[in-house]
Amino acid sequence: MAVKTAAMVDKLRASRVWRSVFRSGTGNSTLHRALAIQQSIFLHLFSTKVRKRMVGFSATWYLGTLTFGTFLILVITGILLMLYYHPSVPQAYADMKDLQFVVSSGLFLRNLHRWSAQLMVFFVFAHMFKVFYRGAYRTPREFNWVIGVMLLIITLLLSYTGYLLPWDQLAFWAITVGSNLSSAVPFVGNKIHFLLLGGNQVNANALLRFYVLHCVVLPLAAILFIAVHFWRIRKDGGLYVQQSEPKPQQAKDRTSAATEVK
Ligand code: HEM
Repeated sequence: MAVKTAAMVDKLRASRVWRSVFRSGTGNSTLHRALAIQQSIFLHLFSTKVRKRMVGFSATWYLGTLTFGTFLILVITGILLMLYYHPSVPQAYADMKDLQFVVSSGLFLRNLHRWSAQLMVFFVFAHMFKVFYRGAYRTPREFNWVIGVMLLIITLLLSYTGYLLPWDQLAFWAITVGSNLSSAVPFVGNKIHFLLLGGNQVNANALLRFYVLHCVVLPLAAILFIAVHFWRIRKDGGLYVQQSEPKPQQAKDRTSAATEVK
């Protein structure tokens, strides 16, 4: 059975359709593996080679990866929630109640989305502190740090805009207080407040604006910045290596210098 399956997989890989999609195959040489990474639209964001130590848990505590994982869960559960939700008053509140008490696994879906959102905020802060603690923000990674700050802001805005969507008392008053803070900005405060809510108070216009921001604008911005973030890691020479550890070339130089002395 196993032999038959392996033969079928080999046949599939040798087929014209497969090879038209995965041009280089995975192969078992370093060159083939590098080609497989470079020729995939998704994988080419990542380095073709990484130091084994750098993908170990102790290097990053996988906090960036965990942040990305929660983001993926949020996108999937968010799309599913959109199938049951209308951004209108008072329907939004009724939809939330339906999700809780009528829709099959609706409560699980809603809670998965809410818990993942809390976790993403926790992970993004933890990841930022870890990067800071290791000094991984220094040259040449300053730009990626700035991209990271943008991602932090987007993550917080996603949480904030999502807060209004259930259209319950908590949502209404939280956004009333939060949006009133924007009025305190000197000179343009009232304009920002009006722009944010589509009026002078939290009402149906505000709900629609927050819905569009939460479900379209901010997720697209997050995807764009995450792609640049990953691509930048590759362009900055992979993940940060601590100064105490000699780079491969330095280690080689030291060995040849030691040989010459002998
Ligand atoms: C949506 C938010 C974010 C996602 C999905 C994300 C994802 C990642 C991933 C997967 C890595 C690879 C290493 C690892 O797993 O830790 C990484 C590295 C990095 N991140 Fe983030 N990140 C986010 C936010 C941030 C923030 C808020 C900052 C800082 C303000 C930041 C700065 C950096 C830097 C400088 C590196 C390179 C670290 C190194 O070379 O060791 N990121 N990020």
